[in-house]
Amino acid sequence: MRRIELALTADAVNPRLVYGTACVVIDVLRASTTIVTALANGCPEIIPVETPEEARTAARARNCLLGGERGGRRIEGFDLGNSPLEYRQERIEGRPIAFTTTNGTRAIRACASADMVLIASFLNAGSILQVLRVQDHDTSIVCAGTRGKPSLEDTVCAGMLLEGLNTRLEAEAVSLWRQHSKNLAQMMKHASAHGRDLMSLGFEKDIDFAARADIYDIVPILENESIVRKQS
Ligand code: MLT
Repeated sequence: MRRIELALTADAVNPRLVYGTACVVIDVLRASTTIVTALANGCPEIIPVETPEEARTAARARNCLLGGERGGRRIEGFDLGNSPLEYRQERIEGRPIAFTTTNGTRAIRACASADMVLIASFLNAGSILQVLRVQDHDTSIVCAGTRGKPSLEDTVCAGMLLEGLNTRLEAEAVSLWRQHSKNLAQMMKHASAHGRDLMSLGFEKDIDFAARADIYDIVPILENESIVRKQS
């Protein structure tokens, strides 16, 4: 049987965990939800970087839009924040985006030594499962978490994937998924610490959107330090 590993925070990632694996990175609120939405709406390429300065450097070199957040809010001078609802087709179609978020892009960069890095959210979990079921690698699932602590919504999304892969491992994540699967938005608004923070910043609509399971048939994949749509 293929090995399946789970990390509940970006800080828990180490080379042994991801090396040689098909690695799935999850940051439901909100980086992975925003990445999936941007690709669905015609962004050709997202360059995930750790700092706003790196994003500015990438944007100068490549004529990109700048996207991302600190403290949940758009970074000064950036074109876009981290709300998936900002990433509309008329705003981003055909434009690469240099993107930095507090936990999500850091988690993606931490997994770069994996054989394959995919980005998952509730929006595209079914498509990610289809890829994982037919590939030959061991699998690692990496939740971004929030400031070094697990995030409930990321763990629930990991549980959804683990259940879909029919593994008996990580029973707690699977049981959290079963507990919350019928009401993802309520779980994020009331039981998730980061969800409550986003509510207090006025981002309730982002949470409703992030809770929409399988609305996009999109598999974002990291290739040459950029995230693009995986071709089937
Ligand atoms: C992060 O990467 O920490 C999150 O995406 C933060 C957010 O919700 O904007």
